[in-house]
Amino acid sequence: MTNVIKNKKAVKLKVKTPIVDALKQACENPTYQFHIPGHTKGCGALPEFKKLIGKKALSVDTTDEFDNLGTLHPATGPIKEAQELAAKAFGAKKTFFLLNGSTAGNLALAMGLTKKGQKIITNRNCHRSILTGMIISGAEPVWLIPEKFEEWGIWGNVTPESVERMLKENKDAAMVWITNPTYEGVVSDIKSISAVCKRYGVPLIVDEAHACLWNFSKHLPVPALQLGADAVVHSLHKTGGSMSQSSMLHIAENSMIDADAVEKALKLLHTTSPSLMLLASLDAARANLDSPRGKKQLERAISNAKYLRREIEKLEHIHDLKPDFGYMTDVTKVFIRADGLSGKRLESILEIDFNIEVESASDAGLLLLSNIGNTRRDMEYLVKCLQKIDKTKYSDICYLENKKHMPMLTPVIKMSLRDAYYSPKETIPKELAVGRISGEVIAECPPGIAVLLPGELITEAHLPYLADYDSVEVIK
Ligand SMILES: Cc1ncc(COP(=O)(O)O)c(C=O)c1O
Repeated sequence: MTNVIKNKKAVKLKVKTPIVDALKQACENPTYQFHIPGHTKGCGALPEFKKLIGKKALSVDTTDEFDNLGTLHPATGPIKEAQELAAKAFGAKKTFFLLNGSTAGNLALAMGLTKKGQKIITNRNCHRSILTGMIISGAEPVWLIPEKFEEWGIWGNVTPESVERMLKENKDAAMVWITNPTYEGVVSDIKSISAVCKRYGVPLIVDEAHACLWNFSKHLPVPALQLGADAVVHSLHKTGGSMSQSSMLHIAENSMIDADAVEKALKLLHTTSPSLMLLASLDAARANLDSPRGKKQLERAISNAKYLRREIEKLEHIHDLKPDFGYMTDVTKVFIRADGLSGKRLESILEIDFNIEVESASDAGLLLLSNIGNTRRDMEYLVKCLQKIDKTKYSDICYLENKKHMPMLTPVIKMSLRDAYYSPKETIPKELAVGRISGEVIAECPPGIAVLLPGELITEAHLPYLADYDSVEVIK
C-alpha cells in the first residue's frame, strides 16, 4: 500500500505542472474582474461561441498580468518554473516558451544574433520565418542546396560535405542554420554537420520545428541538442500535444550563442498579452511527454506508423518514403505517393471519398502523421482506404495536376533580400513578371518554403507555382 502511494507520489512529482496548477488555482478562486480580457470569464462573449468552446475555456483565458500567474518577460513565477522544467526535459541550458509558434523563435534567433550584411548559411527549403528574420536583421542568406529526391518531388537531406564546402567559400559566415527534419521527415546527419561547424568555429542552429518528440523515444532520431547544435526550435503544437501557436526555443548547454540577445529579441517580438492557456498547454504537453502516459502514447504512434508502413509495403501502386543511403527518416512522418496520381489528387480522393484529412499534399505525394493522439483503429481505417485506392483506377484528369506546390528551384539572386524588400515596388500581372525582380516573399504554407524572395529573378519556371496569383509584386 505504502509502495503504491510512494509510486503515485513519484509519478506526481515527475509530472510537475506549475502553470497548469496556477491557472487551476486562479480558476477555482475567481475575483471580481475589472481587467482584460473584456469578455470577463466568458460573461461578455457570444453565447454560441461560449457553447462551442465551453465556459471553462473562456474562464481560464487570461494573460500574465493577473492572479499570481507569473510573467513571460522576464520569466517569473510559475512560467519561469515551467520553462526550467522544459529545459530539463529537453536537455537544454535554457528554454523559452513561444507564442506565435516557432516562427517567433526563428525571428528572435535571426534578430538577436545577426546584423545587417552578415551571412547565414541555410538550406533553400528553410521555413519562411527564417527569411523574415533575415529581413528584420538585414542578414543575407547563403543558399545551401540540399539533395533533391526527384521521384518524390521533395527536398532531401543536407550533407556535411556541402556545409563544409559553403563554410570554406564563406569564411565570414555568422552561422549555419539547418532545417531538420524536413517537413516530410527526411533526417540529415546533424552530428557530422555540427562537427564541421565546430571545426570552423561557427554556431549551428537547427530548426527542429517538426521534431519535438525525438527526445522522448529511442526509436526516433537523436535530437540536435544532443548532437552539438547551439539552439533549436520545437513546434510543440505541431506534434507534441500543445495548443496551436505554442512552441519552444531551446539554448543548448555549452552553446556559443548569446542567449541574452535572443531573449531581448523575443521580448520585443512577443505580444505583451501572452495567453496563459497557450503557456499552460506547453507546460502540460511537456509534462505529458515526460510521463509514462506520454511515453506510451508516443510508442503507440511509432508502432502505428510501422504498421501503416508494413501495410503500404503490400500495396501495388502506393509507396512510402523510407530511409536510404545517406539519410534517415522519422518513422512517424509517412510520406506516400501513388502511381499515376499527383499528391494533390490523392489528397482529394482521401478527403472526398473517405473523409480523411492529411497533413499536406504536394506535386508527387502527401504526408500522413502518425500522432500521439491517433489510435490503432484510426490507422486500420486509413489502411483499408489505401487498400481500396490501390485497387481502383482513378484515370480522370484533375485540374490539380496543373499546379506545382513544392518549390525546388535554384534561385537567381539580383539584389539583397532586405534591400529588395524595402525598395519601391509595383504590382503587375503575373504574365508580365518573367524577367523582373521579385519584391515579395512567395512561400505558401504548407510547407512555407520560398518560391520567390525579394531580390530574386522571376523566370518561366516560377509560373506553375503562381497558379493562384493574378499579379505579383516586383521591384520598380
Ligand atoms: C521547418 C519549419 N520551421 C518553422 C515553422 C514555423 O512554425 P510555427 O508554425 O510553429 O510558427 C514551420 C511551420 O510549418 C516549419 O515547417
